[in-house]
Amino acid sequence: KVADLKGLKQGQLRLAVITTAKYFIPRLLGPFCQLYPGIDISLQVTNHEGILERMSSNLDDLYIMSQVPEHMDVNFQAFLENPLVVLAPINHRLVKEKNIPIQSLADEPFIMREPGSGTRRSVQNLFDEHGVTVKVRLELGSNEAIKHAIAGGLGISVLSRHTLLPEAADLAILDVQHFPIKRNWYIVYPSGKQLSIVARTYLDYLIEAVKKMTNYSVDNTEKN
Ligand code: PGA
Repeated sequence: KVADLKGLKQGQLRLAVITTAKYFIPRLLGPFCQLYPGIDISLQVTNHEGILERMSSNLDDLYIMSQVPEHMDVNFQAFLENPLVVLAPINHRLVKEKNIPIQSLADEPFIMREPGSGTRRSVQNLFDEHGVTVKVRLELGSNEAIKHAIAGGLGISVLSRHTLLPEAADLAILDVQHFPIKRNWYIVYPSGKQLSIVARTYLDYLIEAVKKMTNYSVDNTEKN
C-alpha cells in the first residue's frame, strides 16, 4: 500500500534556506511531515553568504537561495519568484506617486541589509547600474527589524515581497521605476552529491506543492 511505502521513508533531512524563505518553507513542512512522519528535519536560516559557506562545507542536503553560486558546480531548479520591492511607511509622501524615478530614492534615508546578504547585493547592483547613491542611515541584519524600522519612520528599504506575508498593514510598496527586481528561489545542491531518498522526496514534494499553489513556471536555463 502507498501508506506503507511512505512510512518506510525514514531518516534525516537537513535544509538550509536564505532569510526570505523562512516566511514560506516552514509552512510547507507541516504537510510534508504529516505525509512522511518518519523523516526528521533540521532547518537552518541564514543569509546568502552563510548558505555558500554551509554548501562548501557540505553541511546540508538541500539549499534554498535566490542567486545560484557562480563558482561551485551545482544542480539547481527554480521553483518560485522572489521579487524585491521598495517599502515605505504607509504615510510616506511617495506612496501616492506612480512611476517614481529610481533617482528619487537617493533623497530618502535608506535602510540596508548587512554585507553578505543577497538582497543587499541585488539592490546595490541595480543602484550601481543607474548611478544611484542612497544615503544609508541604518544597516540591519534582519528583514523583520528592517520592517519595524520602516514602520517606525527611520527610512525606506528594499526587501523580498515574501517578507510582507502574511500581512504588514503599516507598510506600503512604492511604485518605483525598475522595480520589482525580478528574482527566483532555487533549490540547489552540489553536482557531485548523491541525494538521499529523503532529500529527493523533499525536492519532488516542494516542486509539486508549489506548482499546485501557484501555477508557477520558469525558465530554468538561466542562473539568475
Ligand atoms: P539574504 O537572502 O538573506 O542573503 O538577503 C535573501 C535573498 O537573496 O533573497
